[in-house]
Amino acid sequence: MHILVIGNGGREHALAWKVASSPLVKRLTVAPGNPGTAGIAENVDLKADEIVGFAKAENVNLVIVGPEVPLANGLADDLQAAGIPCFGPTKDGAQLETSKSFMKDLAAEAGVPTAQYQTFTDAAPAKAFLRSLSAPYVIKADGLAAGKGVIIAQGLQEAEDTIDNMLSGQFGAASQTVVIEEFLRGTELSVFAVTDGETLLHFGAAQDHKRAFDNDEGPNTGGMGGFSPTPLDTPENIEAAYSQIIRPTLDALRKRGITYRGVLYAGLMMTADGPKLIEYNVRFGDPECQILMRRIRSDIMPALWGAATGRLAGVGLDFIPNAAANIVIATRGYPDKYEKGSIIAGIKLAEADRDVVVFHAGTALEGDHLTAAGGRVLNVTATGTSIGDALNKCYDAAAKIDWPEGFYRTDIGKALR
Ligand code: AMP
Ligand code: GLY
Repeated sequence: MHILVIGNGGREHALAWKVASSPLVKRLTVAPGNPGTAGIAENVDLKADEIVGFAKAENVNLVIVGPEVPLANGLADDLQAAGIPCFGPTKDGAQLETSKSFMKDLAAEAGVPTAQYQTFTDAAPAKAFLRSLSAPYVIKADGLAAGKGVIIAQGLQEAEDTIDNMLSGQFGAASQTVVIEEFLRGTELSVFAVTDGETLLHFGAAQDHKRAFDNDEGPNTGGMGGFSPTPLDTPENIEAAYSQIIRPTLDALRKRGITYRGVLYAGLMMTADGPKLIEYNVRFGDPECQILMRRIRSDIMPALWGAATGRLAGVGLDFIPNAAANIVIATRGYPDKYEKGSIIAGIKLAEADRDVVVFHAGTALEGDHLTAAGGRVLNVTATGTSIGDALNKCYDAAAKIDWPEGFYRTDIGKALR
């Protein structure tokens, strides 16, 4: 098969790495890819409107879409129209991530436990609703806001200011509608379910650290590291996540005529009253994907192909018995302002341990040098006999990477090490 992976981050390097190991794959292309994927696949720089044409001309059998934006823009719809299987939902299914109000309404319709909420386009009723809640207040831009559209306000004033900012265009069209929610208390767990619209296949659960600095301080990021399994990843919790949340969501999508093909990433809060849905993403998490790809032992192609073609029933998945972990090395200054172009060395040395794989996220090649070209730059992943063992290997490996302009959290999974 010829497989085309769309994206250029650590998630896509990890997907390509796993796909490349499949005996079913004869040719692997990544668009646009990064220096990491260049080592295992052919990178092709395609514009959004060139993907379908390339896939047809080059006899691509399956397109795997990494990020949400191409899905939100209808890439899966266009591929479907051209008869090319796509791992990733069509635009209607992608609304689970692109519209928080769509997601909340669907959850309510399906009886999925989630935070109480209301949706507003005007400030006055939004502020009145705030007064019926107690602090902290959760305010969300309805649309995609590059991971920055959720504000947890500690006080009423901050909450009101947030509403004013969002409704007056802080995130453009994405924040013309806001969702205000009840604050959920508990521990977060991310559950990844691959589906062809009917059959669900559990791809694993992971926990991620979102704040930039140690002790969960500093600004929110896309994720600075994580591990799988997690202490919350028990058969009972996973069963509850599927029976109460993921399965009813899929059924509700189907009732609306939406055949969802791809991964459902359920962000859950494990509360005293059981799991509650925080959000859905319609793609793998980054950096959670990197961790899952290290934990899955079997070939993933039957699952990705089965999901994309409606033939997932009967496909299984096998995991390594123990754990996998990941730490993100980011450019100093991320997630705010940072410089590009600093030189990175030592990746080979870091990978001297057979259990370590370094995935590239924001790197570039300048002549013979590997340089930093983004915020989150490298993912150091490792497998181990326990979460602690995997994390220790990540940290030993990260210490061998020679990149003074980079930083990482030193306390990923601290309680488990
Ligand atoms: P989201 O983009 O919806 O996942 O929100 C980003 C982060 O905000 C989540 O991972 C949670 O940490 C937090 N969050 C979102 N909604 C809530 C809520 N209702 N209660 C508590 N925390 C929340
Ligand atoms: N790591 C969180 C996300 O990918 O949304």
